[in-house]
Amino acid sequence: MSHDWRDYVVTIDDQGLSTLASAAALAIESLKRPSGPRSNLTPTELHELVWSMEICPETGQELATVLRELGQTVWSHAVVPSDTATVAHLHPPTLVPGVVTELAVAASNQSMDSWDQAPSATEVELHLMQWLALLVGFLDDGSGVMTSGGTASNLLGLTLARSSAAKKIDVDVLKTGLPAQASGWRILCSDQAHFSVQRAAAQLGLGRDAVLAVASEPRGTMSIDALDETLEKISHEGLTPIALVGTAGTTDLGVVDPLKDIGERAARYGAWFHVDAAVAGAFLLSDQLRPRLSGIELADSVTIDFHKLWWQPFNASALVLRDGGLFDLLRVTSRYLDRGDELEGMVNLVGRSLDTSRRFDAAKVVATLATLGRRSMASMLEYLVDLTTFAGAAIDAHPALELVAPPASVMCVFRVKGASDDELRAIQQRLLARGEMVLGRTTIRGRAALKFTFMNPLATRDDVEQLIAVVVKEIGV
Ligand SMILES: Cc1ncc(COP(=O)(O)O)c(C=O)c1O
Repeated sequence: MSHDWRDYVVTIDDQGLSTLASAAALAIESLKRPSGPRSNLTPTELHELVWSMEICPETGQELATVLRELGQTVWSHAVVPSDTATVAHLHPPTLVPGVVTELAVAASNQSMDSWDQAPSATEVELHLMQWLALLVGFLDDGSGVMTSGGTASNLLGLTLARSSAAKKIDVDVLKTGLPAQASGWRILCSDQAHFSVQRAAAQLGLGRDAVLAVASEPRGTMSIDALDETLEKISHEGLTPIALVGTAGTTDLGVVDPLKDIGERAARYGAWFHVDAAVAGAFLLSDQLRPRLSGIELADSVTIDFHKLWWQPFNASALVLRDGGLFDLLRVTSRYLDRGDELEGMVNLVGRSLDTSRRFDAAKVVATLATLGRRSMASMLEYLVDLTTFAGAAIDAHPALELVAPPASVMCVFRVKGASDDELRAIQQRLLARGEMVLGRTTIRGRAALKFTFMNPLATRDDVEQLIAVVVKEIGV
C-alpha cells in the first residue's frame, strides 16, 4: 500500500473500498497467534513490550508494518474470548456477521445523534428498538435507545426514574436540580444486583447510600419477604422508594429475581420498575428459557446487553422503555442539533441518549439476527445453559469440589472443599499467570469462590471436564 496520506482517507468508492479490503485482510492476518487463552507474559513484561511502541513517530510507517507490530505486541498477548479456557467473565466470543458489520459501521461512520448524520441508521435503530420492546412484551408504545453497555443503560433507566419521581412533585430535576425531597428518595435492589446501580445513584446525586440492598434467598434471588419488610420500614420512616430494580441474570449466580412480585410492589408504591436484564435478556429469544423472565413486561425500563449473550463485539447495549414517549423526560433541544423544527419523520436520537455523537451499534445486531435467525440464537443459548448444568453436576459429583448454588444460567460458582479464600485466590492467579485458564473468582456471602462463565457455544462437555481437571490438578488433589 502506498504511503501517501490521501490513500488513508476512507472513501466509499471502488478505489477506497478496495484499499479498505486489502487493509482489512492485513488486520485479520495480524490476529494469528499461538493458541491458549492468554500469553504467559508477566504484567511487567507486558508493560515493557507495549510501552516500547512509539505512539507518534515523526514520519509514519507502512500500514502493513504497523499492523504486524500490533499483532506481535498486542494481539499475541490479548485474552482470547473464543478459547474454551476463557471462562472468567461475561466476555463472549463474537459472531462473524457482527464483526464484519463493525467494519462497515466504522467505514460509513454514521453518527446517531441527529437524523442528518444518520438517516437510514436512525430508522434501523428505531426499528430494532421497537422489535426489542415487543420481544420484552411491551405493547405498541415501547421503544428504546442503544447505549455503550449495561452500566450506561442502568444509568439511563435510573435517570428516567429520577426524572419521573421529580415530575410527580412538579419538579424538572434536569433544569433545577435535586429538590429537598430527594434526600428521602430510595432505590431498592437485591444484595446481588450489579454495582452499576449504586454507581448510577452516585452519579445522579442521590448517593450510593440511597440504594437499599434487599436480602437475597440462598439461591441468590431477591427475597420478597425482605422487600416487603424494607418497603414497609422506609414508608414508616417517610422515605420514598422511587425505583425498584429487579435483576434478570445476576452477575455471579445468574439467577432471575421474582420480577412479577417486584413489579407488583413497584406499581403499589408508585415506583419506577427497572429490570437489569443485561445478562439474561437474551432468554427472551428462546421458547424454553423465556418463561424464566416472566414479569419483565411489567417493567418501565429494561437493560439488555447485546455484548453478552448475543455475542456482539463491544459495545452494544440497549435501554428499552414500555412507553418510548417517556424519553421526553430527558430531551434537551440544542441550537444546532435537535432544533425542534425538523421535517416530519426526522428523529434526532440525541433526545433519548446521554451521549451526543454515538456509534451505529444497532447495525451489527441487526446483521447478526438476520443471519442467524431467532432459532439458532435460541439453540446456542439453550446449549450453553445445558452445558452449565452439566458442569454443575460434574462439580457436585467431584469429591474435592462443592457448588455454591445450582447453576441457573451460564455461571457455575464453586469452591474447593476445605480451601481458604487465600488458597482459592492463589489457584486463580497461578492459572492466569501461566496463561492456562482465565478463571473467574468472586465473593459470595463474604467467602471467596471460583467461577466458570460459559459464553462459548463451541465449548463441549469434554472441554468442561478438562477445565475441572485443570483446577483439580492445581489444588493437588
Ligand atoms: C447484571 C449486570 N448488569 C450490568 C452489568 C454492566 O454491564 P457493562 O459491563 O456492559 O456495563 C453487568 C456486567 O457484567 C451485569 O452482570
